Amino acid sequence: MDYRLEGKQAFVAAGAYGIGEAVANLLTQEGASVIVADRDEEVLREKASAWTGVVVADLATAGGVNEALSYALKTFGKAPDILINNLGVGDSSSFEDTSDERWAKSIEVNLMGCVRICRGLIPEMAKNGGASVVNTGSDLAKQPEPTLMDYGVCKSGLLYLTKALAKQYAPNVRVNAVLPGPVWTRMWTRPGGIVDQLIGHYGVADRDAAVKRFLEDRYLPLGIGQPEDVAHAIVFLASPLAKFITGSTLDIGGTLRGLV
Ligand SMILES: NC(=O)c1ccc[n+]([C@@H]2O[C@H](COP(=O)([O-])OP(=O)(O)OC[C@H]3O[C@@H](n4cnc5c(N)ncnc54)[C@H](O)[C@@H]3O)[C@@H](O)[C@H]2O)c1
Repeated sequence: MDYRLEGKQAFVAAGAYGIGEAVANLLTQEGASVIVADRDEEVLREKASAWTGVVVADLATAGGVNEALSYALKTFGKAPDILINNLGVGDSSSFEDTSDERWAKSIEVNLMGCVRICRGLIPEMAKNGGASVVNTGSDLAKQPEPTLMDYGVCKSGLLYLTKALAKQYAPNVRVNAVLPGPVWTRMWTRPGGIVDQLIGHYGVADRDAAVKRFLEDRYLPLGIGQPEDVAHAIVFLASPLAKFITGSTLDIGGTLRGLV
């Protein structure tokens, strides 16, 4: 595939694993220079040679975002052409058990990380022109569920942010979002992750049974996607091939559950 990215510079937020890693790899394969920021130092160092640069930073804090952006601006010598805002962490919890602290933490990681990175980079990207931003939302942003309210509310906020920024910075910066349904990453597979939570929720014996019940309950006939499925959509939206698309949200894999 030729996404016409030769010579472009890209900053990927939260790219050590999963969807972010797949995006960073595809951008690199397509000829872009890529900087990956993530808080997982060990994994980032292991994978560093795959990309132009890596920076260890907690992107859920203002200080971490500042460090990561300073590194990117210094390494590239200017603001990147492409910004991928992929930071997001979801943990199931009932509404009653979701404390103020947890809401605040969720907002920092699932919303403010993206806000701060956009504020730090987009004005400079706009000066250069021909730039694009892709935010990773979630199908939950449009199809709310009771179990991940803090996460879903933040992902809905990202949709507003996406369209509002698209309006503010058109035509110099295009801003779009992808809304993935379930994707097989560590968000699902890590100990205590979504699969383990589903085992508890459905009271079933094993992982396969839990995932099967989930897919039936949520009407997800395409099943669970792979990070690469989302990466192609993100890289397309980031690329000059999508030059006539801004302020849009692309549903991936979880579309058939609701009317929106
Ligand atoms: N996997 C899914 O089913 C799914 C569905 C919809 C949306 N999403 C969204 O996709 C994006 C990527 O998720 P994923 O499934 O690839 O998850 P993942 O757990 O595989 O990757 C998340 C990455 O974020 C990094 N990270 C977490 N907290 C961080 C912090 N404070 N600072 C810097 N880096 C941090 C992790 O180290 C990891 O590299 C997220 O925004 C998530 O909300 C995922």
